[in-house]
Order: sequence, then C-alpha cells, then structure tokens
Amino acid sequence: MEKGQLLYEGKAKKIYATDDEHVVWVEYKDDATAFDGKKKGRIGGKGELNNRISGIFFNYLAEKGISTHYVKEISPTEQLVHRVTILPIEVVVRNIAAGSLAKRLGMEEGTALSHAVVETYYKDDALGDPLINDSHISVLELATPEQVRQMKEMALDVNEHLKQYLRARNVLLVDFKLEFGVTSSGELLLADEISPDTCRFWDADTKEKLDKDRFRRDMGNVREAYEEMLRRLGGPARV
Ligand code: C5P
Repeated sequence: MEKGQLLYEGKAKKIYATDDEHVVWVEYKDDATAFDGKKKGRIGGKGELNNRISGIFFNYLAEKGISTHYVKEISPTEQLVHRVTILPIEVVVRNIAAGSLAKRLGMEEGTALSHAVVETYYKDDALGDPLINDSHISVLELATPEQVRQMKEMALDVNEHLKQYLRARNVLLVDFKLEFGVTSSGELLLADEISPDTCRFWDADTKEKLDKDRFRRDMGNVREAYEEMLRRLGGPARV
C-alpha cells in the first residue's frame, strides 16, 4: 500500500490517500488541543499511544460485531482505515456526570447516571460544536433519521462493550465521543478514533484521571496517563 497525497489535516491526525480509492492512511499526531482549539500543546508520544489504543478498541469492537472503519495498524503512529465521508455530528455517551454535562445541568462531577445519556453535537468549530437534537439534525440535513437511529444504537452498543471491557481492567468509562462516516456504497461505519483524547477514563479505585482532562486542566503527567491506559489494555484483564 502506497502513501499518497495529504487529503486533510485535523487537530490530531493527518489523512493521506492510498493507491486504493476505498482506503485512506491515517497518521496520528502528538499535537493536542482543547476548548475548541483555544488551548494548544504537544504531548510527546501521544500519536503512537493513540494509534495503538484506538487500534485495540476498534479490533475489539469489530469482534463484537460493530462495523468500524478500521483496517489495520501499519506503523507505530499510522493505521489504514476504510474511506468514509464523516457525518458532521459528534455522538457523546455518558455514564458518569463530568465535563460539559456536569456544568450544564449543575451536577457534581462523579455522579453516577442511572442510565446512559446519549447526546449529539454539531461538528462545527466556528459555532463551538453546539448541542443539537434530532429536529436540528433534520432541519440542517446533517444525517437521515435512519442514520441518526443507527448511530445512537451503535453508540449504546459500543458503550456496553467498552464499559465491560474496561471494568475488567479496573477503568471506569465516564463518557466518550464517537464519529461516524458513510462509505461510497452508503454503509454507516464507526470512524475517527477512540482514545484518551476522546474518552474520559478514571481508575476504578482511586478515580485518577487517565485521559485528556489532565491536559485540559494542566494536571501534569499527561503522557504517563495515556501510557497507563495502553498498559492496561495490553495487560491481562482482571475479570
Ligand atoms: O466536554 P464534554 O463533557 O462534552 O465531553 C464529553 C466527552 O466527549 C469527553 O470524553 C470528551 O473527551 C469527548 N469530546 C471529544 N471531542 C469534542 C468534545 C468532546 O472527544 N469535540
């Protein structure tokens, strides 16, 4: 497989064409941003850590029957994925109150939610990724009602699988963000990445944060937290 021209550079990844029109080459970067790009930094080794962590999660979810864009890892910082058109919707699933939910609803961070909460956000930097509902999605023609139904159903499935998988590794899945894409034949696939950049992970005993909140809040030991997550995913599970 040949690495072709740069198609797109995002905040955390670069996407290149390949000699197969249905496959693109993803390079994970060390760059880190938060608060809609207002806070910028670099986390040495993050590209490699997130490439590997995302690969582990996508492989696991594929085993569980979830359709994902992931093909395979091709280098420590690079992976091949099926080419999709990303829908401009971020689907967030929450199990424990934190981040913007805690702030918006006045809940204390760490409050367990009695059932998973699914939210959709409009992926638009200029607007600051606003929270939107199905009516907004329909009016803006961001996705069809069937795609919205499928995305929410897949997001809840992903939540059940990852919650269980992580619990066995002594990690609480607080919340996470997913993105979906559509292939040239119209198939909806789970896309983007699943990593400490896009999820909140807490140690189940100490509630220590093992994710990007350490960067957002200048808590230090960011790289070490990502390394600890990879270690737990690679290590034997405590079932
Ligand atoms: O900030 P908020 O609490 O809404 O984030 C919910 C979850 O979605 C967190 O795990 C966060 O890392 C993730 N997220 C993301 N990209 C965004 C917004 C949120 O990965 N643009």
